[in-house]
Amino acid sequence: MPITYQRDAQLDLDQFIELYRAATLGERRPVENHAVMQAMMEHGDLTITAWDGDKLVGISRTLTDFAYVAYLADLAVHVDYQKRGIGARLVEETRAALEPTCFITLLSAPAANEFYPKIGFEKHPRAWMMKPSQSTEAEPSDPQPGSCK
Ligand SMILES: CC(C)(COP(=O)(O)OP(=O)(O)OC[C@H]1O[C@@H](n2cnc3c(N)ncnc32)[C@H](O)[C@@H]1OP(=O)(O)O)[C@@H](O)C(=O)NCCC(=O)NCCS
Repeated sequence: MPITYQRDAQLDLDQFIELYRAATLGERRPVENHAVMQAMMEHGDLTITAWDGDKLVGISRTLTDFAYVAYLADLAVHVDYQKRGIGARLVEETRAALEPTCFITLLSAPAANEFYPKIGFEKHPRAWMMKPSQSTEAEPSDPQPGSCK
């Protein structure tokens, strides 16, 4: 069956979390913290999904103003479907949904660091990040002021 692509499809939380796990991205995302995962699922500005029939097999989740800059927050393809062009296509579809004036930025997972140059990304020597003040693994009531791990 050919893989199909959708923009801003309705997803349910179990399906969303299951894909992060099946793609291995769940190792670096707070898949046990359903409140955070729900917010991630609901508040992306642009979500492109890849489907094998009704099975969710890939996702590109972007936060953006559509005109100047887009942050590609998550890119994930189910392990059984990797290396078939789906990840590259998800990025292509994301780019096509943005204005031609729009940058795409991202932080790569270690295992994907050699993937991005293959699909047209350039490494930026002055990228910076600020870590959250509370671990996403913790309960919201856990006091961890200033923790930056
Ligand atoms: C990284 C990921 C999204 C790539 O998706 P994919 O569908 O497997 O990639 P594609 O098939 O579109 O690959 C496009 C090209 O990149 C290559 N490639 C794919 N994954 C690669 C990797 N991890 N490292 C180096 N090259 C890679 C492919 O071989 C292909 O090269 P070719 O055009 O010369 O044949 C996918 O492997 C994944 O979900 N990994 C786990 C989660 C993750 O790390 N996500 C990134 C978070 S920043």
